[in-house]
Amino acid sequence: MGKDERIRILSGSASVQLLEKISRYLGVEPVDTYVGRFSDGEIRVQIRENIRGNNVYIIQSTNPPGDNILELLLLIDAAKRASAKSIAAVIPYFGYARQDRKDAPRVPISAKVMANLLQTVGASRVLTVDLHADQIQGFFDIPVDNLYAIPVFKEYVEKKFPDLNRDDFVIVSPDAGGTRRARLFARKLGDLPIALIDKRRPRPNVAEVMNVIGDVKGKVAIIVDDIIDTGNSVRSAAMALKEKGATEIYVLITHGIFSGRAKEILDDSPINEIVITDTIEGNEDRLPSKARKISIADLMGEAIRRIHYSESLSVLFL
Ligand code: R5P
Repeated sequence: MGKDERIRILSGSASVQLLEKISRYLGVEPVDTYVGRFSDGEIRVQIRENIRGNNVYIIQSTNPPGDNILELLLLIDAAKRASAKSIAAVIPYFGYARQDRKDAPRVPISAKVMANLLQTVGASRVLTVDLHADQIQGFFDIPVDNLYAIPVFKEYVEKKFPDLNRDDFVIVSPDAGGTRRARLFARKLGDLPIALIDKRRPRPNVAEVMNVIGDVKGKVAIIVDDIIDTGNSVRSAAMALKEKGATEIYVLITHGIFSGRAKEILDDSPINEIVITDTIEGNEDRLPSKARKISIADLMGEAIRRIHYSESLSVLFL
């Protein structure tokens, strides 16, 4: 009997829609998997098909609640004990990544905790999208592929603005940490100019704009970032850009968390449109009315296909 080289793909409850879309892209049936609860709320999972000797891809975003992380860990453990050949943790939104260094006394490095947990339970590799900081890859001793949502945003922008040009458009990073992403995106769009918001964060989730660096007057500003949570950062960035003379403001953000009053404060902002991807599900009733979701599924599906067949992923970054 030959080896079973099929792509075996399954998900936890945080990524059911992505599982469906990625399976469709890959032309495979998801592995029959049960994810439920005991009556006290404890998580119970079961992989209901033979996966012995298979390469298994477990899709699960780890946005709150913490149960999403536990589901992922239990699924990995189940796959390991079912003798899977390899187990890829496919984490479209990698939660707990924002605490990635000890920047105050007596704080944890939560991204490292996540890395330890994933490796300890038996993940052989990680595939994720727009990790909060690239260097989190170094917290792991297994391969970590960090995709960027840039190709899907590029397609969107080129369709929306067929007349993109250096005089009328500017790509904006809402903080210094996002400058690399903004520069890369600007380059892909034909070397558009970039601007940078110099912000201060007095407390978590509170952003104060200090300055806008770069010329935005009379231009359409396109803000790119990895996460939108309370919406405070992007709203204050948009107000500062408007004050400096930007004519229209578009926001392209990979992970749409939208916690607290995000919906209200973003609807009450000078932003024209907010585009997010579908790395986070179940946020539909928290989306501002100017938000629009586009799918990352084909990009992730292609990355899984390439990993499975040992092909290079670098073409996905070009
Ligand atoms: C910060 O470094 C991130 O890139 C985001 O700008 C931040 O997480 C957004 O948070 P919020 O929407 O709560 O301002």
